[in-house]
Amino acid sequence: ASTLGGAAAAKGRYFGAAVAANHLGESQYAATLDTEFNSVTPENEMKWDAVESSRDSFNFSRADQIVGHAQGKSMQIRGHTLVWHSQLPGWVGGLNATDLRSAMNNHITKVMQHYQGKIYAWDVVNEAFQDGNSGARRSSPFQDKLGNGFIEEAFRTARAADPNAKLCYNDYNTDGQNAKSNAVYNLVKDFKARGVPIDCVGFQSHFNSQSPVPGDYQQNLQRFADLGVDVQITELDIEGSGSAQADNYRRVTQACLAVSRCTGMTVWGIPDKYSWRASGTPLLFDDNYGKKPAYQAVLTAL
Ligand code: XIL
Repeated sequence: ASTLGGAAAAKGRYFGAAVAANHLGESQYAATLDTEFNSVTPENEMKWDAVESSRDSFNFSRADQIVGHAQGKSMQIRGHTLVWHSQLPGWVGGLNATDLRSAMNNHITKVMQHYQGKIYAWDVVNEAFQDGNSGARRSSPFQDKLGNGFIEEAFRTARAADPNAKLCYNDYNTDGQNAKSNAVYNLVKDFKARGVPIDCVGFQSHFNSQSPVPGDYQQNLQRFADLGVDVQITELDIEGSGSAQADNYRRVTQACLAVSRCTGMTVWGIPDKYSWRASGTPLLFDDNYGKKPAYQAVLTAL
Protein backbone atom coordinates (compact mmCIF):
# COMPACT_ATOMS: atom_id res chain seq x y z
CA ALA A 1 0.00 0.00 0.00
CA SER A 2 1.10 3.54 -0.62
CA THR A 3 -0.21 5.20 2.54
CA LEU A 4 0.41 4.66 6.24
CA GLY A 5 -3.21 3.76 6.94
CA GLY A 6 -3.45 1.46 3.95
CA ALA A 7 -0.23 -0.34 4.78
CA ALA A 8 -1.21 -0.72 8.43
CA ALA A 9 -4.66 -2.01 7.45
CA ALA A 10 -3.03 -4.66 5.27
CA LYS A 11 -1.36 -5.87 8.47
CA GLY A 12 -4.62 -5.77 10.43
CA ARG A 13 -3.68 -2.57 12.25
CA TYR A 14 -4.58 1.09 12.23
CA PHE A 15 -2.25 4.06 11.77
CA GLY A 16 -3.49 7.20 13.48
CA ALA A 17 -2.67 10.82 14.16
CA ALA A 18 -3.49 13.22 16.95
CA VAL A 19 -5.72 15.87 15.41
CA ALA A 20 -6.55 19.41 16.49
CA ALA A 21 -9.99 20.74 15.50
CA ASN A 22 -8.64 24.20 14.73
CA HIS A 23 -6.43 22.83 11.92
CA LEU A 24 -9.15 20.91 10.08
CA GLY A 25 -9.95 23.94 7.97
CA GLU A 26 -6.40 23.97 6.55
CA SER A 27 -6.69 22.14 3.25
CA GLN A 28 -3.24 20.52 3.27
CA TYR A 29 -3.71 19.40 6.86
CA ALA A 30 -7.06 17.79 6.10
CA ALA A 31 -5.80 16.29 2.84
CA THR A 32 -2.80 14.69 4.56
CA LEU A 33 -4.96 13.38 7.37
CA ASP A 34 -7.53 11.94 5.00
CA THR A 35 -4.98 10.36 2.66
CA GLU A 36 -2.53 8.89 5.11
CA PHE A 37 -4.34 8.00 8.30
CA ASN A 38 -7.21 5.69 9.24
CA SER A 39 -7.48 6.61 12.92
CA VAL A 40 -7.60 9.85 14.88
CA THR A 41 -7.12 10.90 18.48
CA PRO A 42 -8.39 14.36 19.45
CA GLU A 43 -5.25 16.07 20.77
CA ASN A 44 -7.02 18.19 23.41
CA GLU A 45 -10.71 18.38 22.57
CA MET A 46 -11.94 15.47 24.71
CA LYS A 47 -9.99 16.41 27.82
CA TRP A 48 -11.90 17.30 30.99
CA ASP A 49 -11.25 21.04 30.74
CA ALA A 50 -12.50 21.06 27.15
CA VAL A 51 -15.75 19.14 27.67
CA GLU A 52 -16.79 19.90 31.28
CA SER A 53 -15.27 23.21 32.33
CA SER A 54 -17.98 23.66 34.92
CA ARG A 55 -19.64 20.89 36.85
CA ASP A 56 -22.14 18.79 34.90
CA SER A 57 -22.26 21.29 32.04
CA PHE A 58 -20.89 19.62 28.93
CA ASN A 59 -19.66 21.14 25.67
CA PHE A 60 -18.72 18.64 22.99
CA SER A 61 -18.61 21.04 20.05
CA ARG A 62 -14.88 20.91 19.25
CA ALA A 63 -14.59 17.19 19.89
CA ASP A 64 -17.67 16.58 17.76
CA GLN A 65 -15.97 18.36 14.86
CA ILE A 66 -13.15 15.83 14.92
CA VAL A 67 -15.47 12.88 15.41
CA GLY A 68 -17.66 14.04 12.52
CA HIS A 69 -14.65 14.44 10.26
CA ALA A 70 -13.28 11.01 11.19
CA GLN A 71 -16.63 9.29 10.75
CA GLY A 72 -17.04 10.90 7.34
CA LYS A 73 -13.80 9.21 6.30
CA SER A 74 -14.53 5.92 8.09
CA MET A 75 -11.59 6.37 10.43
CA GLN A 76 -11.35 4.78 13.86
CA ILE A 77 -11.36 7.14 16.82
CA ARG A 78 -9.42 6.84 20.08
CA GLY A 79 -10.99 8.72 22.97
CA HIS A 80 -8.44 10.70 24.98
CA THR A 81 -8.82 10.99 27.96
CA LEU A 82 -11.31 10.61 30.82
CA VAL A 83 -9.38 10.75 34.12
CA TRP A 84 -6.09 12.65 34.18
CA HIS A 85 -4.44 15.05 36.63
CA SER A 86 -3.62 17.55 33.87
CA GLN A 87 -5.91 19.80 31.83
CA LEU A 88 -8.34 19.32 34.69
CA PRO A 89 -10.56 22.29 35.57
CA GLY A 90 -9.97 23.85 38.97
CA TRP A 91 -13.42 23.00 40.32
CA VAL A 92 -12.56 19.29 40.31
CA GLY A 93 -9.66 19.76 42.72
CA GLY A 94 -11.90 21.74 45.06
CA LEU A 95 -14.36 18.90 45.69
CA ASN A 96 -14.44 16.73 48.79
CA ALA A 97 -14.01 12.98 48.37
CA THR A 98 -17.71 12.18 48.11
CA ASP A 99 -18.36 14.84 45.50
CA LEU A 100 -15.18 14.01 43.61
CA ARG A 101 -16.20 10.37 43.33
CA SER A 102 -19.58 11.27 41.91
CA ALA A 103 -18.08 13.94 39.62
CA MET A 104 -15.54 11.44 38.25
CA ASN A 105 -18.18 8.82 37.60
CA ASN A 106 -20.55 11.38 36.10
CA HIS A 107 -17.81 12.69 33.81
CA ILE A 108 -16.88 9.21 32.56
CA THR A 109 -20.51 8.24 32.05
CA LYS A 110 -21.68 11.39 30.26
CA VAL A 111 -18.67 11.66 27.96
CA MET A 112 -18.69 8.00 27.02
CA GLN A 113 -22.43 7.93 26.46
CA HIS A 114 -22.24 11.00 24.23
CA TYR A 115 -19.83 9.08 22.00
CA GLN A 116 -21.36 5.63 22.42
CA GLY A 117 -20.73 3.45 19.38
CA LYS A 118 -18.23 5.89 17.87
CA ILE A 119 -15.06 5.32 19.88
CA TYR A 120 -12.85 2.30 19.32
CA ALA A 121 -10.84 2.67 22.53
CA TRP A 122 -10.82 5.10 25.45
CA ASP A 123 -7.85 6.15 27.53
CA VAL A 124 -9.87 5.79 30.72
CA VAL A 125 -7.02 6.76 33.03
CA ASN A 126 -3.91 8.64 31.89
CA GLU A 127 -0.56 9.00 33.68
CA ALA A 128 -1.47 7.78 37.17
CA PHE A 129 2.06 6.71 38.13
CA GLN A 130 5.15 8.69 39.13
CA ASP A 131 8.39 8.76 37.21
CA GLY A 132 11.52 7.37 38.84
CA ASN A 133 12.17 4.24 40.79
CA SER A 134 9.37 4.28 43.35
CA GLY A 135 6.64 2.71 41.25
CA ALA A 136 4.31 4.87 43.32
CA ARG A 137 1.14 6.60 42.26
CA ARG A 138 1.29 10.21 41.19
CA SER A 139 -0.38 12.79 43.40
CA SER A 140 -3.64 14.07 41.91
CA PRO A 141 -7.06 14.99 43.26
CA PHE A 142 -8.22 11.45 42.39
CA GLN A 143 -5.28 9.70 44.03
CA ASP A 144 -5.12 11.98 47.04
CA LYS A 145 -8.84 11.96 47.87
CA LEU A 146 -10.08 8.61 46.56
CA GLY A 147 -6.95 6.50 47.11
CA ASN A 148 -5.55 3.66 45.03
CA GLY A 149 -9.01 2.36 44.17
CA PHE A 150 -9.83 5.28 41.88
CA ILE A 151 -8.41 3.52 38.81
CA GLU A 152 -10.52 0.42 39.38
CA GLU A 153 -13.60 2.54 39.98
CA ALA A 154 -12.98 4.52 36.79
CA PHE A 155 -12.65 1.35 34.71
CA ARG A 156 -15.77 -0.24 36.21
CA THR A 157 -17.76 2.93 35.55
CA ALA A 158 -16.41 3.09 32.00
CA ARG A 159 -17.43 -0.49 31.22
CA ALA A 160 -20.95 0.20 32.41
CA ALA A 161 -21.14 3.44 30.40
CA ASP A 162 -20.18 1.92 27.03
CA PRO A 163 -19.74 -1.85 27.10
CA ASN A 164 -18.51 -1.91 23.49
CA ALA A 165 -15.55 0.47 23.81
CA LYS A 166 -12.12 -0.90 24.57
CA LEU A 167 -10.83 0.48 27.87
CA CYS A 168 -7.14 1.45 28.05
CA TYR A 169 -4.67 2.60 30.66
CA ASN A 170 -2.22 5.06 29.03
CA ASP A 171 1.15 6.41 30.24
CA TYR A 172 4.64 7.62 29.27
CA ASN A 173 8.09 6.42 30.33
CA THR A 174 6.55 2.98 30.44
CA ASP A 175 7.84 2.04 26.98
CA GLY A 176 10.71 -0.10 28.29
CA GLN A 177 10.96 -2.27 31.36
CA ASN A 178 11.52 -0.05 34.39
CA ALA A 179 10.04 0.63 37.82
CA LYS A 180 7.19 2.68 36.36
CA SER A 181 6.21 0.14 33.72
CA ASN A 182 6.52 -2.62 36.33
CA ALA A 183 3.99 -0.76 38.44
CA VAL A 184 1.58 -0.52 35.50
CA TYR A 185 2.23 -4.18 34.70
CA ASN A 186 1.30 -5.16 38.24
CA LEU A 187 -1.87 -3.07 38.06
CA VAL A 188 -2.96 -4.77 34.83
CA LYS A 189 -2.06 -8.21 36.17
CA ASP A 190 -4.12 -7.56 39.29
CA PHE A 191 -7.07 -6.29 37.25
CA LYS A 192 -7.00 -9.36 35.03
CA ALA A 193 -6.76 -11.66 38.06
CA ARG A 194 -9.73 -10.02 39.79
CA GLY A 195 -11.89 -9.46 36.72
CA VAL A 196 -11.65 -5.68 36.77
CA PRO A 197 -12.40 -4.55 33.20
CA ILE A 198 -9.36 -3.51 31.16
CA ASP A 199 -8.75 -4.23 27.48
CA CYS A 200 -5.63 -2.36 26.46
CA VAL A 201 -2.54 -0.47 27.54
CA GLY A 202 -1.34 2.61 25.69
CA PHE A 203 2.35 3.43 25.45
CA GLN A 204 2.68 7.12 24.68
CA SER A 205 6.21 6.79 23.24
CA HIS A 206 7.44 10.37 23.34
CA PHE A 207 11.12 9.90 22.56
CA ASN A 208 14.13 12.22 22.53
CA SER A 209 17.81 12.08 23.47
CA GLN A 210 16.96 12.04 27.19
CA SER A 211 14.35 9.37 26.65
CA PRO A 212 15.37 7.26 23.63
CA VAL A 213 13.53 4.28 22.16
CA PRO A 214 14.29 1.58 24.76
CA GLY A 215 16.27 -1.46 23.67
CA ASP A 216 13.59 -3.71 25.15
CA TYR A 217 10.61 -1.87 23.66
CA GLN A 218 9.24 -4.91 21.83
CA GLN A 219 9.75 -7.20 24.84
CA ASN A 220 7.95 -4.74 27.04
CA LEU A 221 4.96 -4.54 24.68
CA GLN A 222 4.97 -8.33 24.54
CA ARG A 223 4.92 -8.85 28.30
CA PHE A 224 1.84 -6.64 28.59
CA ALA A 225 0.18 -8.45 25.66
CA ASP A 226 0.91 -11.73 27.45
CA LEU A 227 -1.30 -10.54 30.32
CA GLY A 228 -4.24 -10.69 27.90
CA VAL A 229 -4.62 -7.05 26.87
CA ASP A 230 -4.12 -5.29 23.55
CA VAL A 231 -1.26 -2.82 23.37
CA GLN A 232 -1.16 0.36 21.33
CA ILE A 233 1.42 3.02 20.61
CA THR A 234 -0.64 6.07 21.39
CA GLU A 235 1.35 9.33 21.12
CA LEU A 236 4.46 8.56 19.12
CA ASP A 237 6.94 11.32 18.36
CA ILE A 238 10.72 11.02 18.13
CA GLU A 239 13.03 14.01 18.26
CA GLY A 240 15.69 14.21 15.57
CA SER A 241 15.94 14.30 11.80
CA GLY A 242 17.24 12.41 8.79
CA SER A 243 18.33 8.81 8.91
CA ALA A 244 18.78 8.63 12.68
CA GLN A 245 15.18 9.65 13.24
CA ALA A 246 14.07 7.32 10.46
CA ASP A 247 15.88 4.38 12.10
CA ASN A 248 14.09 5.03 15.38
CA TYR A 249 10.69 5.22 13.71
CA ARG A 250 11.46 1.98 11.87
CA ARG A 251 12.30 0.23 15.15
CA VAL A 252 9.08 1.35 16.78
CA THR A 253 7.03 0.23 13.79
CA GLN A 254 8.76 -3.14 13.66
CA ALA A 255 8.22 -3.62 17.39
CA CYS A 256 4.48 -3.10 17.04
CA LEU A 257 4.24 -5.44 14.05
CA ALA A 258 6.17 -8.13 15.92
CA VAL A 259 3.58 -8.17 18.71
CA SER A 260 0.35 -9.69 17.46
CA ARG A 261 -1.72 -7.85 20.07
CA CYS A 262 -0.23 -4.46 19.09
CA THR A 263 -3.35 -3.28 17.29
CA GLY A 264 -2.15 0.07 16.00
CA MET A 265 -0.03 3.14 16.39
CA THR A 266 -0.72 6.86 16.55
CA VAL A 267 1.70 9.72 15.91
CA TRP A 268 1.15 12.80 18.06
CA GLY A 269 0.55 15.26 15.24
CA ILE A 270 0.90 15.50 11.47
CA PRO A 271 3.41 18.22 10.39
CA ASP A 272 6.33 19.20 12.61
CA LYS A 273 5.02 22.75 12.88
CA TYR A 274 2.04 21.58 14.93
CA SER A 275 3.93 19.30 17.30
CA TRP A 276 3.29 19.94 21.01
CA ARG A 277 7.06 19.85 21.46
CA ALA A 278 8.20 23.44 21.79
CA SER A 279 11.09 23.01 19.38
CA GLY A 280 12.37 20.31 17.09
CA THR A 281 11.06 18.15 14.29
CA PRO A 282 9.65 14.97 15.87
CA LEU A 283 6.94 13.99 13.36
CA LEU A 284 6.65 12.29 9.94
CA PHE A 285 5.81 15.35 7.80
CA ASP A 286 7.76 18.59 7.51
CA ASP A 287 6.20 22.03 7.81
CA ASN A 288 5.09 21.91 4.15
CA TYR A 289 3.60 18.42 4.50
CA GLY A 290 6.58 16.89 2.72
CA LYS A 291 7.25 13.26 3.60
CA LYS A 292 10.38 12.96 5.73
CA PRO A 293 12.83 10.04 5.75
CA ALA A 294 11.01 8.91 8.90
CA TYR A 295 7.79 8.64 6.89
CA GLN A 296 9.48 6.48 4.26
CA ALA A 297 10.98 4.28 6.98
CA VAL A 298 7.60 3.69 8.60
CA LEU A 299 5.85 3.01 5.30
CA THR A 300 8.55 0.55 4.26
CA ALA A 301 8.46 -1.21 7.63
CA LEU A 302 4.67 -1.60 7.60
C1 XIL B 1 -0.55 17.59 24.97
C2 XIL B 1 -1.03 18.33 23.74
O1 XIL B 1 -0.35 17.84 22.61
C3 XIL B 1 -0.79 19.82 23.89
O2 XIL B 1 -1.41 20.54 22.81
C4 XIL B 1 -1.36 20.33 25.22
O3 XIL B 1 -1.01 21.67 25.39
C5 XIL B 1 -0.83 19.49 26.37
O4 XIL B 1 -1.12 18.13 26.15
N1 XIL B 1 0.59 13.20 27.26
C6 XIL B 1 -0.73 13.15 26.88
C7 XIL B 1 -1.26 14.13 25.92
O5 XIL B 1 -1.44 12.20 27.27
O6 XIL B 1 -2.60 14.46 26.17
C8 XIL B 1 -0.43 15.39 25.91
O7 XIL B 1 -0.92 16.24 24.87
C9 XIL B 1 1.03 15.06 25.74
C10 XIL B 1 1.53 14.20 26.87
